[in-house]
Amino acid sequence: MAATICRLVILAVSIVLSACQTKETNYVIGAGIADITGPAAGINMMGYANPAQISSGLHLRQYSRAFIVSEKSSSSPVVFISTDSCMQSQDLKLEVVRKLKAKYGKLYTERNICISGTHTHSGPGGFHQYLLYDITSLGFVNETLQAYVDGIVKSVDNAHMARKPGNIYINTGELLDSNINRSPAAYVRNPPEERARYNYNVDKNMTVLKMVDAEGKGIGMISWFAVHCTSMNNTNGLVSSDNKGYASQLMEENFTQDFPGNGKFVAAFAQSNEGDVSPNTAGPKCLDTGKPCDLPTSTCNGRNEQCVAFGPGKDMFESTKIIGENQYKKAMELYNKATVQLSGPVDFRHSYVDMTNVQVQVNATTKVKTCNTAMGFSFAAGTTDGPGAFNFNQSDTTGNAFWDAIRNFIKAPSPEQVKCHHPKPILLDTGEITFPYAWQPSIVDVQILRIGQLAILGVPAEFTTMSGRRTRDAVTKALIQGGLSSDTVSVIAGLSNDYADYVTTYEEYQQQRYEGGSTIYGPNTLQAFIQELVKLANNMTKGEPASPGPNPPDLISKEWGFVPPVIFDAAPRGFGTLLSQMQPSYKQGTRVQAKFAAAHPRNNRRAEGTFLTVEHQVSADNWQVVYKDSQWCTQFHWVRTSTIFGESEVTIIWDIPADQAPGTYRLQYFGDSKSLSGTITPFSGQTPAFQVTI
Ligand SMILES: *[C@@H]1O[C@H](CO)[C@@H](O)[C@H](O)[C@H]1NC(C)=O
Ligand SMILES: *[C@@H]1O[C@H](CO)[C@@H](O)[C@H](O)[C@H]1NC(C)=O
Ligand SMILES: *[C@@H]1O[C@H](CO)[C@@H](O)[C@H](O)[C@H]1NC(C)=O
Ligand SMILES: *[C@@H]1O[C@H](CO)[C@@H](O)[C@H](O)[C@H]1NC(C)=O
Ligand SMILES: *[C@@H]1O[C@H](CO)[C@@H](O)[C@H](O)[C@H]1NC(C)=O
Ligand SMILES: *[C@@H]1O[C@H](CO)[C@@H](O)[C@H](O)[C@H]1NC(C)=O
Ligand SMILES: *[C@@H]1O[C@H](CO)[C@@H](O)[C@H](O)[C@H]1NC(C)=O
Repeated sequence: MAATICRLVILAVSIVLSACQTKETNYVIGAGIADITGPAAGINMMGYANPAQISSGLHLRQYSRAFIVSEKSSSSPVVFISTDSCMQSQDLKLEVVRKLKAKYGKLYTERNICISGTHTHSGPGGFHQYLLYDITSLGFVNETLQAYVDGIVKSVDNAHMARKPGNIYINTGELLDSNINRSPAAYVRNPPEERARYNYNVDKNMTVLKMVDAEGKGIGMISWFAVHCTSMNNTNGLVSSDNKGYASQLMEENFTQDFPGNGKFVAAFAQSNEGDVSPNTAGPKCLDTGKPCDLPTSTCNGRNEQCVAFGPGKDMFESTKIIGENQYKKAMELYNKATVQLSGPVDFRHSYVDMTNVQVQVNATTKVKTCNTAMGFSFAAGTTDGPGAFNFNQSDTTGNAFWDAIRNFIKAPSPEQVKCHHPKPILLDTGEITFPYAWQPSIVDVQILRIGQLAILGVPAEFTTMSGRRTRDAVTKALIQGGLSSDTVSVIAGLSNDYADYVTTYEEYQQQRYEGGSTIYGPNTLQAFIQELVKLANNMTKGEPASPGPNPPDLISKEWGFVPPVIFDAAPRGFGTLLSQMQPSYKQGTRVQAKFAAAHPRNNRRAEGTFLTVEHQVSADNWQVVYKDSQWCTQFHWVRTSTIFGESEVTIIWDIPADQAPGTYRLQYFGDSKSLSGTITPFSGQTPAFQVTI
């Protein structure tokens, strides 16, 4: 009897043990998130190059999402980072690497870190190393750079601390109705037999990585899907992570039921070959007549400003929401159904390449050379997502101080440049101007991160659809020929590490749409990138190092900046004083607005914090925070009411969700004021309690 009981106990114990047994794991994985939100007021937004698009509040915070993966037996990781910023810049990566090296020695370097921007056009600018990209932000803005550097480093710290054994699954599927080609007239220039291989003139595939720990619990997700983060248009002043950032928040919230940025599950919606890809799926039309624009030129009666593409929603907020939700839902579906496991080595190759001087073998008999950088005329026309990306006419009449100071130094292009860039008519001969420092990069990063049968191609530019396809095919082929398994796949990680504008195919370049006009190393730019990436792939399969290449310049100490500092704040009725009349109650699904006497948000970006809270009264003295400033239903608007007297106002908006629990609520505003002597003092203001009713 005792023996039977004993046997039963042993059986029970072994069943319990086997149920608890953890799965075999292939990798060590860490995921981390950190707030990188830049100055939420007074700084030009990066992307549309519209001098009038200045930050004036916040809708969704910007985050950096970092993923560290290594083999179990090795300490040599790869790090993929997706940031809610327009792109990367060389000084940003150099600063991040400098800080990481100081902390971790040789563990995280420029070679094994890939930082890729989501391409939101609603994040503050001024963080660039090269002059051209900082012109509309009145030059270099150290505040933006520091916010991005600190946040990116912190996201790596968080990922580093979170590392544990786990597995990675990969899945791919089509997402329709979420992207269109904005330069079809260039796309059709590609050979018909090449186009015939594809069902669409943009990539509809989304690739998802599902990362789980040894117990199968979710650690994080990375998706790659090619679509511009331009659902918010060039009139938006609220800092926003746009469609991809919203998708990230939705997925993270699904897993954690917590505020944005909590880090318990990290979901990155990373950018890919989005060069000619727009989220504005209703397509372009003429603002004045409502008719279609002229297809090859995207103009209406000869004017580019009138030809604008619209999203699927009734306004830019709804369009952002729809394109974000579409990506979130598809990623969730692919994540839930992912069964193919990544296995095999973690590896990386990285080179700095002088892209102005690459010899490209175009066929058996002919070698060509890439060009010094230059921008074409069509660049100034902008795109249907944001016309007039760099409008000389406008800069001349508005007397942009930065532009005035430098335009006299613009140079006529040399005959060699004209020939090299043909048929691009050169507007800005950036490669031959060195005053006051380089305008566009010559030396850029090319990089491959490998995790088992996946190759992540870190490219420092916006590749068009067909450029991305050719690049993926060439690298995948080289890797498989070099001995990797036949199910090896490549993804393009666009806008990575630094920024060198656009890359079109040779054929698309001939059309000189915006993307061709912005292909800065000339018609053979794509061939050159493919050649350099294939070199890295071959180095990798042979187990040999890549040539490090020439170091890029570090111009950070030379950069010009003309953004004035905040001088001081004043509020005659007191900082945080409620200035608007509130109603005693609001119905679910309606909007609450509250105006406060405010101070400049640049005084403190409140990283990992909030400018506002929506609070629910749970008992007499107990208010529970239900929303913070990064959530969809809240908006934070700031406006200077008097520059001379340093006065400003903030309006907090809460769009009460239709299913919000009825009860007693209040709003709070958190600010920081600056005195004439420079002291910064935190303060807060609040509304009286109000009811939310059915
Ligand atoms: C930017 O700010 C950082 C941190 O406040 C400071 O150390 C650095 O010197 C500044 N750099 C420039 C170029 O102003
Ligand atoms: C999309 O993904 C499928 C499945 O992995 C693949 O067969 C197809 O070639 C991909 N299409 C493109 C354009 O990459
Ligand atoms: C999370 O997503 C799943 C779909 O994968 C859905 O069924 C579920 O309701 C979502 N949960 C929350 C809390 O949003
Ligand atoms: C931007 O979107 C708003 C709607 O949210 C619209 O009124 C406006 O015309 C759009 N502007 C441009 C230039 O696309
Ligand atoms: C090689 O390319 C050059 C330049 O495009 C062209 O002129 C030449 O005819 C090509 N030669 C062959 C053998 O295809
Ligand atoms: C300014 O715009 C007008 C109208 O689009 C155009 O004809 C003219 O060439 C532009 N000026 C410059 C300097 O590009
Ligand atoms: C990497 O590959 C390139 C091109 O195949 C080759 O020239 C180079 O020598 C390789 N690097 C090393 C260190 O072997």
